[in-house]
Amino acid sequence: MNERTLSIIKPDGVQSGLVGEVIKRFEKAGFKIVAMKMVHLSKEQANEFYAAHKGRSYFEGLTDFMSSGPSVVVALEGQNIVSKYREMMGATDPVQAAEGTIRKAYATDGRQNVVHGSDSRETAAFEIGYFFSAFELVGP
Ligand code: PPS
Repeated sequence: MNERTLSIIKPDGVQSGLVGEVIKRFEKAGFKIVAMKMVHLSKEQANEFYAAHKGRSYFEGLTDFMSSGPSVVVALEGQNIVSKYREMMGATDPVQAAEGTIRKAYATDGRQNVVHGSDSRETAAFEIGYFFSAFELVGP
């Protein structure tokens, strides 16, 4: 089924010069890029974006990290893209991530793990809408 998902190349990914590497993986996999921009989230925006995780032990560390520097946000479209992109990212903790995944190759730990991906179509709709207006998403 054709659907959309949100990718974030996190501050560690941008800082380490991995933007091109991640985008290359999208293009090689045939993921369609429908919107892309660089952002530097404020702490308040990070709190809002990750509101579903509020109260978890990692929440403060996560939102501090996500507001620590620029990120690149990318809306992707394709068949079963939510699960395909999560497979490409690998598990949250790079120790658990499968060989060949982005996090296995480049993540430092469960916090500095290079990329974010929506966990469902419903979450993707919220996350894409958080960063992009309808006219910024390119059509067919
Ligand atoms: S859960 O419970 O399955 O939703 O959690 P998980 O997907 O593993 O992690 C959710 C996001 O929290 C980040 N995370 C952390 N950030 C900072 N410090 C610690 N210790 C930490 N552990 C997990 C993790 O990278 C996930 O971020 P996103 O942006 O969703 O990938």
